[in-house]
Amino acid sequence: MSMIEKIKNKARANVKTIVLPEGDEPRTVKAAEDIVKEGLATPILLGNPEKIAEVAKKQGADISGIKIIDPAASEKAAEYTKVLFELRKAKGVAEEDAKKLVADPMYYGIMMVKCGDADGLVSGAVHTTGDMLRPALQIIKTKPGMKVVSSSFLMDCPNKSLGEDGLLVYADCVVMPCPTAEELAHIAVSAAETARVLCGVQEPRVALLSFSTKGSAKHELVTKVQEAVKIAHELAPDLLLDGEMQFDAALVPEIGASKAPGSKVAGRANVLVFPDLQAGNIGYKITQRIGGAECFAVLQGLAKPCNDLSRGCSVEDIVNTVAMTAVQATC
Ligand code: ACO
Repeated sequence: MSMIEKIKNKARANVKTIVLPEGDEPRTVKAAEDIVKEGLATPILLGNPEKIAEVAKKQGADISGIKIIDPAASEKAAEYTKVLFELRKAKGVAEEDAKKLVADPMYYGIMMVKCGDADGLVSGAVHTTGDMLRPALQIIKTKPGMKVVSSSFLMDCPNKSLGEDGLLVYADCVVMPCPTAEELAHIAVSAAETARVLCGVQEPRVALLSFSTKGSAKHELVTKVQEAVKIAHELAPDLLLDGEMQFDAALVPEIGASKAPGSKVAGRANVLVFPDLQAGNIGYKITQRIGGAECFAVLQGLAKPCNDLSRGCSVEDIVNTVAMTAVQATC
């Protein structure tokens, strides 16, 4: 069974409510129908009900029974405005500003999650990553004990000898352009949790990547990764985590054994932590385009799950992301 099918089965076992702020976007409307058909979650579409009905008709999607909320006419808007104002007034948000923000489906959806009226949110078929991330960061905030929000890409590789039966978890490929050593350590711990919770990996083996393996090169960028390894050990002493190491030393048993002898991670890593966003973002695209891996992205470290889509996403991508969000919401 593929990794995404396993995730879908987990979502079906504990059905969660997931809000879709881009409720009148054609792929999202079609995805809502499929999510219900597959029993993956209870979707809520945000937007004008007449417009959504029109889109559904054009798409040939049966959305009868799917809850639609129009933020502009919602009874909850006043409550959400009050909560948002209290949360953001110290940052200069006036009550009038909060009211306007709540009328925006993206903020309305985030407030639903914040106030417990939805278990998670999926958006990004229309909005950019920043548009979706900023309100999530400002309002949902990080989990207790977690310093940063970041992302993991679940890479389902055709070569099943890699990682965990072909699964590699890559972090961070979306959020933090230049993490500090401490932030990198938190990204590593978060990625291990994603591997465990979402993918059922019982023993995450985390490699912090660099162009150096165990001091083979000396540079301030290498020192940063070495510091991150130390901090991550303090944050999660029981986690199998090692570095700094090169990509091949992390994945290939013979190279791991020769470059990092005695390491419990080298040569058998299943979670790979990139030193910055340039490396992570390029790395996952190489694995996808040249390595032929299927990839699935999730945000990690948020107090409640919100996930971003690519604007080029398919209906299937939305369905898969909703399933992953629903599973994250169970923890
Ligand atoms: N974790 C936790 N909180 C954060 C983080 C983070 N990683 N980043 C910012 N914040 C908080 C800030 O502390 C701030 O909180 P506050 O307002 O309560 O003080 C709030 O979020 C907003 O912070 P800003 O600094 O105003 O936000 P910024 O403009 O830096 O935007 C963003 C943050 C959107 C994550 C930015 O770092 C970014 O654009 N990252 C890259 C996204 C991207 O384009 N990725 C690549 C494309 S995606 C793909 O290829 C799949």
